[in-house]
Amino acid sequence: MEVNHTNTYELNSKSDNPIQCTMDDNGCCIVEDNNTEKAFWDDRWAAGSTGWDLGRVSPELQKFFDLLPDKNAAILIPGCGNAYEAEYLLNHGFTNVTLIDISPTLVRNLRSKFENNSSIRILEGDFFQLNETYDVVVEQTFFCAIHPSMRVDYVQKMVKILTEKGILGGLLFNRDFEGGPPFGGSKEEYKKLFHEHGLEVIEMEMAMNSIPARQGTEVFFQARKKHTESN
Ligand SMILES: C[S@@+](CC[C@H](N)C(=O)[O-])C[C@H]1O[C@@H](n2cnc3c(N)ncnc32)[C@H](O)[C@@H]1O
Repeated sequence: MEVNHTNTYELNSKSDNPIQCTMDDNGCCIVEDNNTEKAFWDDRWAAGSTGWDLGRVSPELQKFFDLLPDKNAAILIPGCGNAYEAEYLLNHGFTNVTLIDISPTLVRNLRSKFENNSSIRILEGDFFQLNETYDVVVEQTFFCAIHPSMRVDYVQKMVKILTEKGILGGLLFNRDFEGGPPFGGSKEEYKKLFHEHGLEVIEMEMAMNSIPARQGTEVFFQARKKHTESN
């Protein structure tokens, strides 16, 4: 496999350890291992190259959080970035919030931002290596950040880490992008993917409360593990 050292998709690292990636047939970068992925995202955080950052919790997620019945639910925010969602949850009485992100630079900042808050746990690491269960998993521009070749793994991991009545909920882009990340997709594609790999979609509709820049381009969804007749 040919390895390209390229600045396409802003992959040129300013560190001593330049990012290496291979390009798939669509010209998308495939990060080859966990360390490469980590370096890619960590460089973005270190350089402040974080165009995805809303600077606030999305109003659509706010609405979702307001309807969660159990303040002690175990909540996970994967690929959490600046975790505005966690601030909102903590301010609204939730007591068991876990954040995970692969970027050490970001995680250092988060640890100082949420210092001494016993309702939050901050993990530095790869979502795909998680080995615990949650009642609620929050999706906010994490799915679109991983390469499409990892989407089945994403769904299968969600099936493993959701509790029996657990909910995966959040926002997904309903549009295409050139290159990526972010990697886009459509409502129909997501429904099929979830259904085929063990998630039952409870709701997936165009989001009505997106921030202005994303209006008409994202869907709000909730999904849970598919249940067999016996459970
Ligand atoms: C597009 S950003 C979104 C951040 C945040 N959710 C937001 O909306 O502002 C994607 C985030 O996922 C993190 N990330 C990428 N791959 C990851 C992985 N395998 N495990 C955990 N975090 C990951 C990146 O470091 C980055 O912070």
